[in-house]
Amino acid sequence: GLKKKEVHVLCLGLDNSGKTTIINKLKPANAQAQDIVPTIGFSIEKFKTSSLSFTVFDMSGQGRYRNLWEHYYKEGQAIIFVIDSSDKLRMVVAKEELETLLNHADIKHKRIPILFFANKMDLRDSLSSVKVSQMLCLENIKDKPWHICASDGLKGEGLQEGVDWLHDQIQ
Ligand code: GTP
Ligand code: MG
Repeated sequence: GLKKKEVHVLCLGLDNSGKTTIINKLKPANAQAQDIVPTIGFSIEKFKTSSLSFTVFDMSGQGRYRNLWEHYYKEGQAIIFVIDSSDKLRMVVAKEELETLLNHADIKHKRIPILFFANKMDLRDSLSSVKVSQMLCLENIKDKPWHICASDGLKGEGLQEGVDWLHDQIQ
C-alpha cells in the first residue's frame, strides 16, 4: 500500500490534564496501555489515520519538566494542547503556558495547527469548551488554525472529531 505521510505532533498541557490518556486512546486497541502513570520527561507514541502516521511527543506537564517542551517546537508540525476543564484554579496557569508557547521564536511565525481538548468533560463541575476557550482567550489566536473539542479521555469521547480536524489541516 501507499506509505502514509509522517507528521510530528507535540502533545502539551499541564500535568494531570489527560494528555497520555488521550494519546493512549488514539492508539489501536491492542497497543493501548492499561495503566497510565504521570509522564517523566516525555514519551514518543504513534497512531495513524487513513493517510497519516502521527508521531507524538507526549510531554510531561509537570512544572519541573515544562522547560523540555521548547526543544521540540522546531520539528513540531501540529500541536495538541490538553486542558483539564475541571481545574478552574489552574486555568490561568494553562493560559500562561499557552501564551509562552505562542510567543516562542520557533512557534510564533509558524502556521502550525493547534487542536485543543477541553478534557474531563465527564466531571460534574467541568467548564464547557466555550468557557475554556474564553478563559484561554483563544479568539486572540489569529495566525494559526485552531480548534477546540470537549473530550472525555477515559471513554475516548470527542477525540475522533479532534483528530479528523487535525487530519484535514495537514492533508
Ligand atoms: P502528565 O504526564 O503528568 O503531564 O499528565 P497527563 O496530562 O499525561 O495526564 P494523564 O493522562 O496521566 O491523566 C491524569 C489523570 O486524569 C489520570 O488519573 C487519568 O485517568 C485522568 N483522566 C484523564 N482524562 C480524563 C477524563 O476525560 N475524565 C476524567 N474523569 N479523568 C481523566
Ligand atoms: Mg502524561
